[in-house]
Amino acid sequence: MNIVYKSEPERGRRWQRLLAEQAPDIRFQLWPDIVDPEQVDCLIAWQPPDNIMQHFPNLKVLFSVGAGVDQFDYASLPASLPVVRMIEPGLTRGMVEYVTFAVLGLHRNMPRYLQQQRQQVWLEHPGRPASRSRVGVMGMGTLGEAVLQPLVQLGFDCAGWSRTGKNLAGVKSFVGQGELGNFLARSDILICLLPLTAATEGILNAELFNQLPQGASLVQVGRGKHLQHDHLLAALDSGQLSAAVIDVTSPEPLPVGHRFWQHPAIWLTPHIASQTQPESAVQALLDNLRRFERGETMTGVVDRERGY
Ligand code: NAP
Ligand code: GLV
Repeated sequence: MNIVYKSEPERGRRWQRLLAEQAPDIRFQLWPDIVDPEQVDCLIAWQPPDNIMQHFPNLKVLFSVGAGVDQFDYASLPASLPVVRMIEPGLTRGMVEYVTFAVLGLHRNMPRYLQQQRQQVWLEHPGRPASRSRVGVMGMGTLGEAVLQPLVQLGFDCAGWSRTGKNLAGVKSFVGQGELGNFLARSDILICLLPLTAATEGILNAELFNQLPQGASLVQVGRGKHLQHDHLLAALDSGQLSAAVIDVTSPEPLPVGHRFWQHPAIWLTPHIASQTQPESAVQALLDNLRRFERGETMTGVVDRERGY
């Protein structure tokens, strides 16, 4: 098996060391120094090169370094080429930590207290138990389901929204466009963990924000293009939303001077909610490569019709 890796180089060198120890039969090359590109079987990429098939004409599998698979130009890829998203426990744990931190921070009014600290204001606001904070997760896939588990254990009133119905203990399941309004109407803290597709682009907009309870808050950990920035700013400024934790934006990096940087009700992080962890990711990659070699279905193959 001959693999090319194209992503952050330091992490690539860690993948290379791990694979050399665990699977010395695999040839693992780091972009852009590729020998014999026509012999490359697999590309694993965050931002792929343009014209992937021209670089690697005999490519057999395309892996994403991350959970998201919206970075690929599917029109340029043969229909028979499997595209595989990353499912690995390190990435999932990172998202669980980030979302738990964000929900607890919002539930405990931390953005407001941080503003007060900066202004040297000692003023308490009424708190409420977690059981009276209604959390709604958009996207109940690998990550959405995982983040819901600790939130249920902490006692939050939890619901999830997805394309197909789910049965997760302690979580109310809302399905499809028809149930979106009811789901939003009961979400005090809304978390976006959707993939970016034609159906979800721009979904975090004024129409959606207006269906949330007044003063609701947002945790945006999906993809930047889910969110219409100006609609969020208007919702925060009008009080329809009270706070937002934003990890992904469009474009990235967020331009200097953008209003998100200084907005008192926004906590902003630079797309770090969760990162693929080399040790567990290499294990997941190897498991999938062995499945592929045995002619079995790999975990996380993208359904091109659905777009995720
Ligand atoms: P996944 O397992 O494919 O789950 C996607 C979920 O979204 C599924 O539950 C799916 O419903 C639902 N969904 C998709 N389109 C929908 C629609 N039009 N209406 C309603 N529900 C819809 O994906 P994942 O591994 O959990 O990852 C989710 C996303 O998180 C990634 O695509 C990426 O954008 C983002 N992410 C961000 C970071 C970060 O650091 N910020 C890190 C990792 C991932 P069904 O289950 O019914 O199909
Ligand atoms: C990160 O955003 C990922 O998709 O893994």
